[in-house]
Amino acid sequence: MEKLLAETANRATRYLSSLPERSVVPSSASVAALEQLGGPLPDAPADPAQILALLDDIGSPATVATAGPRYFGFVIGGTLPAALAANWLAGAWDQNGAMQVMSPVAARLEEIVLQWTIDLLDLPACSGAGFVTGTTMANFTALAAARTALLKRAGWNVEEDGLFGAPPIDVVVGAEVHVSLLKALSLLGLGRSRVTRVPVDNQGRMLSDALPPLNDRTLLCIQAGNVNTGAFDPAEQICARARDANAWIHVDGAFGLWAALSPQYAPLLAGFNAADSWAIDCHKWMNVPYDSGLAVVREPQHLQAAMSISAAYLASSNMREPWHYVAESSRRARAIELWAAMRSLGRAGLRELIERNCRQARLFAQLLAGAGFSILNDVVLNQVLVSFGTPDQTRAIIAAIQSDGTCWCGGTQWQGHTAMRISVSSWATTDEDVQRSADAIVKIARQLLTR
Ligand SMILES: Cc1ncc(COP(=O)(O)O)c(C=O)c1O
Repeated sequence: MEKLLAETANRATRYLSSLPERSVVPSSASVAALEQLGGPLPDAPADPAQILALLDDIGSPATVATAGPRYFGFVIGGTLPAALAANWLAGAWDQNGAMQVMSPVAARLEEIVLQWTIDLLDLPACSGAGFVTGTTMANFTALAAARTALLKRAGWNVEEDGLFGAPPIDVVVGAEVHVSLLKALSLLGLGRSRVTRVPVDNQGRMLSDALPPLNDRTLLCIQAGNVNTGAFDPAEQICARARDANAWIHVDGAFGLWAALSPQYAPLLAGFNAADSWAIDCHKWMNVPYDSGLAVVREPQHLQAAMSISAAYLASSNMREPWHYVAESSRRARAIELWAAMRSLGRAGLRELIERNCRQARLFAQLLAGAGFSILNDVVLNQVLVSFGTPDQTRAIIAAIQSDGTCWCGGTQWQGHTAMRISVSSWATTDEDVQRSADAIVKIARQLLTR
């Protein structure tokens, strides 16, 4: 075992040190070579060292360098050194994060991380939370609590009696709602299409004047950080109205809520802490390994009502039981890496990470605008939208950038425009990486446009 793990550390270190210079995308030959990992399952056991060598030799070249410094697709963070190291140790611990009795360390780290997060994001101290896989499940988990609470007000117990015959819940979302929130609504029986969509402005922010009438059976979903523009809904105005109506306010704050870590960006979050629940991602801007997210609920009893189960053999204590806050029973102890990430950076390091990535997004915008290309959004956070001309030109340039391998950026449609998305979310990205990526993008775009 000792030799195997030492060899694993060597191979992993070699992989990580190759990231800054290797192509961000794997070659098609490397992807084709993955076939070597398949075939019929051999009958005989094999030496674990050989298995690891095969996995590294064939698997590593076929990875996308999302852990490297020049991956700007989707909203993807890397893995902070302390978080990766903690992940390895956690692998050795192999703790089941479900219950206190199964893992006191996992349960205690959840409590600590939750307290730190509530404090860092200025959320209500009374809040409870579940540690989940990412924002899709954070939305699902928090919205389950909302469904429980709203129907309880109407005298309906959704856990016992289901949704057939239940009083209706009016769901209100912005026109630029993230699709994962709609998926969560569909999983909860609240439907994707029966929602009221509130019109938005040119940055994707909900128009607060256009809100429909709200009441105490309205579930209002707002957004902190639009996946395309990075923009924030005007929470102060919206929450004031929603609180008057006693509606439930849910925030999809996948990456945007982390802006609270910086005094410079915290004003974008004015009013968001008046909500009832928040979905937060940790594998994005907190730069912990996949998968990791948090569903935070102001009145934890609703989350517990939605999630807790019991059985004679499953011991519950009078302490916080992690499995009473999430849909899963057995699961990975995700708080371990979060604890390590937060503890290693400290408040100052976390602030620096957010401020650096936002500054780098502005640097991207400056360099690309300086080269004559159009920036389609107000760069208020870490997201940049670029157009290179016609939709076909923009699409062709995105494809060429992706196959060049210096960096990776994805495409999108933004309010009728075809655009390239740049999301700067990694601890590993330096200003030189931004300059080098922008140079490659400009060179490729000019080559294609002058053809
Ligand atoms: C605003 C928003 N909500 C939800 C999600 C989905 O997050 P996940 O992929 O972690 O489930 C994303 C992903 O980018 C997002 O930006």
